[in-house]
Amino acid sequence: MSYEYIIVEKYDRVGLIKLDRPEALNALCVGLIGELGKAVADLEADDSIGCLVVTGSEKAFAAGADIKEMVDKDFQTVYREDFITDDWEVLANTRKPVIAAVAGYALGGGCEVAMMCDFIIAADNAKFGQPEITIGTIPGAGGTQRLTRLVGKAKAMDMCLTGRMMDAEEAERSGLVSRIVPVDSLIEEALAAAKKIAGYSLPATMIAKEAVDRAYEVSLSEGLRFERRTFHSTFALEDRREGMMAFIEKRKANWKHR
Ligand code: HXC
Repeated sequence: MSYEYIIVEKYDRVGLIKLDRPEALNALCVGLIGELGKAVADLEADDSIGCLVVTGSEKAFAAGADIKEMVDKDFQTVYREDFITDDWEVLANTRKPVIAAVAGYALGGGCEVAMMCDFIIAADNAKFGQPEITIGTIPGAGGTQRLTRLVGKAKAMDMCLTGRMMDAEEAERSGLVSRIVPVDSLIEEALAAAKKIAGYSLPATMIAKEAVDRAYEVSLSEGLRFERRTFHSTFALEDRREGMMAFIEKRKANWKHR
């Protein structure tokens, strides 16, 4: 399948989606978001894929929603369409693990798309921001909510009210990104992490992701109960027994369900 605004490649069991609209710093136009939604859905359905990576260019992961497309919209339209569209949510709703590999600008909707992924690996030149306030609006794809949960109220308010950018160091210190790597090795490092994840039992990684995500939705006691039950459910997996047997027999696990 060929796309106009993205490139999709497969490496072993990893699906790599590269946002590719360089003339607009990967601004997330309707066409790009539609293709992203389709590509994510396809990789989610593809049994040969165990982990996804979403990335952009060295200059920009994505500089936000497309301002030129939004400028003439009115309230009736955005309310009626419930803008943003479901395609934006596909990434947030993916059940397979997804890594965002961010170099350059991740602004507005770009930062929000990165935060929809399970974790962010940042290049040392990455810059994150929610600059919507500078164009008279506010984040609309989770920026006020996911950013606040990730970095806390003080930093989130600072970002959303001043519109300033955070560099990679501050983003790592604040808990927005899991690690920083040199920009030249970003894809290599992200693919290595993704291959590692995709090399495990897929139901196990999916259950782990579901359990961590639950922490954002429920109280601690409910979350712990959910974890206990999903932990119990892994004992129904052939791969759980295989993993433990492989450890005891000092050999590599031969996962059945990847
Ligand atoms: C449309 C964009 C764009 C955007 C950049 N471009 N960002 N087009 N929407 N969000 C286009 C520019 O118009 C220009 O094309 C080309 O990309 C290069 O951008 P420059 O500004 O010339 O590059 P530079 O000087 O290097 O500055 C980079 C930048 C700046 C700091 C990232 O482009 C910028 O501030 N962009 C907007 C960031 C932003 O406000 N994002 C939030 C959007 S609102 P032309 O052809 O004009 O030269 C949002 C809400 C999401 O995301 C809510 C959910 C839907």
